[in-house]
Amino acid sequence: MGNIAAEHWEELRNLRLAARLSQARLQPPPLGLAREGVLRRAVGLTLEASGCSAPLGSHVRVETAGGRWIDAEVVGFSGERTFLMPTDDIAGLLPNARVISSRKRGEVAVGEGLLGRVIDSDGVPLDGRGPIRPDRWVGLGGESINPLMREPITQSLDVGVRAINALLPIGRGQRIGLFAGSGVGKSTLLGMMTRYTKADVIVVGLVGERGREVRDFVEATLGEDGMRRSVVVAAPADRPPLARLHGALRATAIAEYYRDQGLDVLLLMDSLTRYAHAQREIGLSVGEPPTTRGYPPSVFARLPALVERAGNGADGSGSITAFYTVLTEGDDQQEPIADAARAILDGHIVLTRRIADSGQYPAIDVEVSVSRVMQDITDAPWRARIRKLKQLMVAYNTQRDLIAIGAYQRGSDPVVDEALARWPAIQAFLGQDVAEAADVESSRAALATLLDDRPANPEAAPAAQESLR
Ligand SMILES: Nc1ncnc2c1ncn2[C@@H]1O[C@H](COP(=O)(O)OP(=O)(O)OP(=O)(O)O)[C@@H](O)[C@H]1O
Ligand SMILES: [Mg+2]
Repeated sequence: MGNIAAEHWEELRNLRLAARLSQARLQPPPLGLAREGVLRRAVGLTLEASGCSAPLGSHVRVETAGGRWIDAEVVGFSGERTFLMPTDDIAGLLPNARVISSRKRGEVAVGEGLLGRVIDSDGVPLDGRGPIRPDRWVGLGGESINPLMREPITQSLDVGVRAINALLPIGRGQRIGLFAGSGVGKSTLLGMMTRYTKADVIVVGLVGERGREVRDFVEATLGEDGMRRSVVVAAPADRPPLARLHGALRATAIAEYYRDQGLDVLLLMDSLTRYAHAQREIGLSVGEPPTTRGYPPSVFARLPALVERAGNGADGSGSITAFYTVLTEGDDQQEPIADAARAILDGHIVLTRRIADSGQYPAIDVEVSVSRVMQDITDAPWRARIRKLKQLMVAYNTQRDLIAIGAYQRGSDPVVDEALARWPAIQAFLGQDVAEAADVESSRAALATLLDDRPANPEAAPAAQESLR
């Protein structure tokens, strides 16, 4: 009898234990316990941890063989597994390494102390000039502005480049793309505009491009004077994709801070394509499907989210005028990133290899470049001259093969005749040395002179032929 009671008691205890266990399984694990997990997999760029239920977007640290800790961000999860993306070099990782949640949040130190400084994608100074004292901390992702509260673009902005000032006028708060194949002169034109554009603060994001160009930009393009009112965020090509992504976000967050202080900011991003590539690497490695030419859908969500943060602020605050370089691979203007960028930006300046090869710099293709705010910042006679110049260029270029071999018959088309006569002057007008600045007034006046004067040399055809070769 006593034995039965003991057995019964045992059974009851087991049942209770089982019930408590299953209940425990239904309960979410207490946060304190799940802060530490272990590394299960490291394939390509992604790390996979288990037992660490850190929220999406939060930061963790992973221990390496040498006792060093690597920073990583939670970019996804699937069941018990957490996907991490490192922001550091991952050499030295071991299976079953400790993964712990870290307090570091994706926050950006901003303030006056940043002016004149060069920092990396984590905000760490690269210029060896000591720590930066922040005035405030802001989020990496920024806060969106009610579109109805944004001040409209009404003021023109002098960018110092004649062809742009006269033919593709830029407005304060506009977001423009510089589109070109590799080596056609995007970075050089960006540098020119940096030097001559009037702005209170310049924020430069060098994202995914050559490391060598960072020093060049700081020393040659900005120089000591320019650097005084600039902040450079550098995340060159050798940085992990998440670091490159953060570089662009940090530069934008810093620009937003200055705008909110009522300042006119010039934001330069070289390049928007590398930003998209970084997101492609991340998306694909956490298992997103490749859709348009290998780009996962998240890329096309990331681009507008970044670009929409630039522009004018709410009434009464400052502005961010932004230039983004866009690489058109193989000079393909329909390339998906170029296409997406064209759709979300307020204008695109296209540089063409054909023009660069002919020795004309900046190699701006006026016929296909567009400034979408032109209507708001130009008057009717100005627009008429822009149209006229474009007509002349189109007329000339449709006949250029014939002109080049001397087969064009003068008198067959009066517009082509006029284009031929004015061609040397048009080329002189479009070309500009890197060291030369041309303000809006003088650019506009030069356009008027170019079209309204009688052609200096009505028989200029031979010179025009020469310049084509
Ligand atoms: N305005 C200019 N005057 C003279 N040469 C120029 C000019 N712009 C570009 N170049 C020439 O073209 C080369 C490439 O220019 P740049 O680096 O600006 O091109 P990019 O489009 O930024 O190239 P990438 O896509 O590789 O970054 C320069 O090294 C220079 O030789
Ligand atoms: Mg470049």
